[in-house]
Amino acid sequence: MAEIGNQIEKAVRLLEQDELVAIPTETVYGLAGNALSKSAVTKIFSVKNRPQFDPLIVHIPNIEKAETYVTEIPEQARILADTFWPGPLTLLLKKKSIIPDLVTAGLDTVGIRCPNHFLTRQLLQRLPFPLAAPSANPFGYVSPTKPEHVEEQLGNSIQYILDGGICTVGIESTIVGFENETPVVYRLGGLSLENIEKAIGNVQLMTHSTSNPKAPGQLKSHYAPGKKVFLGKVEELLQQYPSHLSGILTFQKDFNSPFQFILSPSGSLDEAAQNLFEALRAFDKMPVDVILAELVPNVGLGKAINDRLQRAAVQ
Ligand code: TXA
Ligand code: MG
Repeated sequence: MAEIGNQIEKAVRLLEQDELVAIPTETVYGLAGNALSKSAVTKIFSVKNRPQFDPLIVHIPNIEKAETYVTEIPEQARILADTFWPGPLTLLLKKKSIIPDLVTAGLDTVGIRCPNHFLTRQLLQRLPFPLAAPSANPFGYVSPTKPEHVEEQLGNSIQYILDGGICTVGIESTIVGFENETPVVYRLGGLSLENIEKAIGNVQLMTHSTSNPKAPGQLKSHYAPGKKVFLGKVEELLQQYPSHLSGILTFQKDFNSPFQFILSPSGSLDEAAQNLFEALRAFDKMPVDVILAELVPNVGLGKAINDRLQRAAVQ
């Protein structure tokens, strides 16, 4: 069992000893360790059961710190960082050698993010090193948005979970990289495409690669809950799957089922994003065989929600 608490000092002590601590962010909980320590980073891969070809994001307290870890910051990256940090945005930038190759899986770029959570920002300011932190779930499973989610799955492998409450955004950060200074979105996430384009103009979307993806979190069949997910019109799916064995996941609609989860009765995509992973986990505990789910409106955070639903549904 891991201890769940809000003592920053305790987290600092453990991290300084190359131990791992689960940390809250506005997107999802992270499994954090000293990004400059090979020993700590090795523990991250092993606790998550994550293949070492899948690089980690490095978390920093403020934009100034980025200069310590990357060789250059393209103009548009700087605008994005100035506009959206701290926040749900990860920038892929050319790394300095101080970042171990293990962190970046041998790539010459490193994912850098300044998270927007008061506890984790205090923690990052107290530490003399940045934190490598993937989402705090076993590889391939749904990301955690509450301390209890982390405890359930990784509680036997780590000592401490820093309790920052429920994640306010609820889906992972949007990942933006640069190909010859042209911005490319590799993962849809908590910062909407519309907001990014308002700041820097049109961006390219490259989130669909499969076998050897640039961002391996973009592998199909990621974010998979324990039950099979079928996407479509729930009314039609219910004709194929008996309702007493089906979990129902909708945006707003009420099917009057004891096994349903409505993402946002009022129709807010922000609320739906915050509830999505909690919902997918909730079905694991219900006596249902399958999850019947509908997509949400494909605008704003709806695009990232639909991306997660589609990946969860690939069998
Ligand atoms: O919101 C988030 O980003 C959360 C919180 C904890 O910060 N972290 C997170 O990390 O989602 P993770 O490891 O679960 O997902 C990171 C994704 C992976 O798909 C990884 O392949 C990709 O980022 N990634 C990291 N560094 C990369 C790089 N240098 N080039 C390409 N993809 C990279
Ligand atoms: Mg993850």
